[in-house]
Amino acid sequence: MPRRPATRATFSKTAALLALSLALPLASIRDAHAQATRYADAPPLLLGAAWYPEQWPEAQWEHDLALMEAAHINLVRIGEFAWSRMEPRTGHYDFVWLDHAIAAAARHHMVVVLGTPTAAPPAWLTQKYPDTLRMNEDGVRDEHGNRQQFSFASRRYRELAHAIAEQMARRYGHDPHVVGWQLDNEYAVDSFDPEAKRQFHAWLARKYGSIAALNERWATAYWSQTYDDFAQIPVRAADENPALLLDWKRFASDTWKDYSINQVDAIRPYADARQFITTNTMGWFAGFDAYALHQVLDIAAWDDYVAGEHYDWVDNAARHDLTRGYKQRNFWVMETQPGFVNWRATNVALHKGEVRDMAWQAIGHGADAVEYWQWRAAPNGQEEYHGTLVGADGEPVPVYGEIQQVGAEFARAGQALAGTTPQAEVALINDFDSRWALGFQRHSADFDPVAEMKAFYRPLRAHAQVVDVVSALAPLARYKLVVAPSLNVLTDVQAARLKAYVEQGGHLVLGPRSGMKNADNGLHPQRQPGPLAELLGGRVAQFYALDKPVPVVGGDGNGNGNGNGNGNGDGQGELPAGSASIWAEQLQAGAPQTRAPLRYGPSNGWLDGAPAVLTRQVGQGSITYVGAWLDDALLDRLTAGWLQDAAVGTPIPGAPADVEVCVRGDARHRVVVLINHGAQPQQVKLPTAMTPLLGDGAASSVVNLEPYGVAVLQSGG
Ligand code: GAL
Repeated sequence: MPRRPATRATFSKTAALLALSLALPLASIRDAHAQATRYADAPPLLLGAAWYPEQWPEAQWEHDLALMEAAHINLVRIGEFAWSRMEPRTGHYDFVWLDHAIAAAARHHMVVVLGTPTAAPPAWLTQKYPDTLRMNEDGVRDEHGNRQQFSFASRRYRELAHAIAEQMARRYGHDPHVVGWQLDNEYAVDSFDPEAKRQFHAWLARKYGSIAALNERWATAYWSQTYDDFAQIPVRAADENPALLLDWKRFASDTWKDYSINQVDAIRPYADARQFITTNTMGWFAGFDAYALHQVLDIAAWDDYVAGEHYDWVDNAARHDLTRGYKQRNFWVMETQPGFVNWRATNVALHKGEVRDMAWQAIGHGADAVEYWQWRAAPNGQEEYHGTLVGADGEPVPVYGEIQQVGAEFARAGQALAGTTPQAEVALINDFDSRWALGFQRHSADFDPVAEMKAFYRPLRAHAQVVDVVSALAPLARYKLVVAPSLNVLTDVQAARLKAYVEQGGHLVLGPRSGMKNADNGLHPQRQPGPLAELLGGRVAQFYALDKPVPVVGGDGNGNGNGNGNGNGDGQGELPAGSASIWAEQLQAGAPQTRAPLRYGPSNGWLDGAPAVLTRQVGQGSITYVGAWLDDALLDRLTAGWLQDAAVGTPIPGAPADVEVCVRGDARHRVVVLINHGAQPQQVKLPTAMTPLLGDGAASSVVNLEPYGVAVLQSGG
């Protein structure tokens, strides 16, 4: 039986593929806005720390700053929790200490990011205006004493936030040492107070125009949900009509965006154009649509804390690529851990060497700044146990030396990296509507949409090495392959763009549950993949939640199997290709050109012999639908096939599994960052000789990496 090579035999072929990204024509290189920010005097790579001068007597600052400078720290973030210090009483401002802190940092050759302090309102504020406190879904108001206790919707809080941000901007908007602004800190919690509810109702009224239109689109005949008035609509973030839940998330996104605009409007009129405005986000956190939020921000920045107790470098790589996708250019790591945090059950430290690995990984994925949280252990407060560079005594802790090394290396390699950015030929689509919709109705307990994103990311990264993560509405023409792991909510606009991408020669892969929902989180009238079913020439006959794995076997290339247990691929005489778990869809082809490279083996009777994957060539392009959550090895082989079919190269083929390959480029040249994330020495063979930037060695095509070692290499002239 002829078998589509992509399913099994292509792994070794891919290894042999030497269509090197290193040899990409310079004309295809994107560098117009590569660098996150540009300052005449600041170095291209910045190393920074969160510094809280308000917590220490001014007499101690000099010692701190001298130690920072000795570690090559050239950036400090100040102020984001210092409201009670800046405005000790209503309307009475004290910025003298901040003037001194900025000037002192500048004397030590540091630039400054100022945080607006709105994540931690002062006690006088919440006492005077208790209506600004957030309320949870059960109607309980927050109390003072922690942080983030404000309502994101409160008009009064907006006025107060605007006032303090404006005061800061009037004072520092032209300060040559202040390079940018961080709004608030880690937007996270919604509020369900009466004002927020009223705003949600008004938001719905604006969106739908009439209650009749809302009833129609939400299909409220179901369970007698029909509304006469927007004010009747419940405001909850769970266990409601899926349309309501999705609209609440969109409302929350708009509210955070508006919350940001309020402060941007306070700062921008007084700030030099060279000062950027951003906020610090949190990886896969899905409390709002990060693409929508970043429309009003100048750069993307995130807080990189490892996702588990130990550093999983691929997991972390994906989050860098995600953040880079918010503005589709370089970004900043606004916070990262100097060893360990204090908020896990067991706060395991990074292995010696991994702090440096993480810093270089950030740069390799397009960061232009890496900042440690925090510089010095606070004398008291909730975070006394958190990792720092110096202790409460003001003297270095052991990790200081490793960070000092990073600082020296950033200084050394910075010029070569200036203006460069990762140049990906493949993109993974991240869609907040879809992640939310799947989260509301998992149907299979383990169907975590982020875990599924990561499952598709891993093999893409392993083979292509450079991957973009972008929204479904990003320009796609530059990518040879686009993978949408679960584009559950597929709007007509998105579908039209994806169809055009394929018709223009792009290769599109859709994962399970794609194209099921419309923009209202309702079911599409066509079966999955809904508006793309015709292009695929196939559809989902039925979906099944799995509580145990199902075998998957090589298909017969013909997608017309009936899926009733009598198809050619019923497992008899077929080598198992792998398995599906968590989720499996019984696929049906409806067009002669649509082929089924994989089928299910014996399973629940319904799936037996049915296609698990369908694919169709469309001109020079193709569309592929993967109907199951496949095991990692099988997905790896499939991915290798997709990349091969799309002629995507591997920049450094054959790199050892523990070695991460990152590539940044511009029209001048390429810079490769190699990171050995393992405890064994490794050797990497480069397709061409490159010049090491960290050491003094001559150009070579063989790189030896120590355990947890890093090499930064330059090609081109
Ligand atoms: C971040 C936060 C910082 C600090 C840090 C500790 O989420 O922005 O202020 O609390 O965590 O890991």
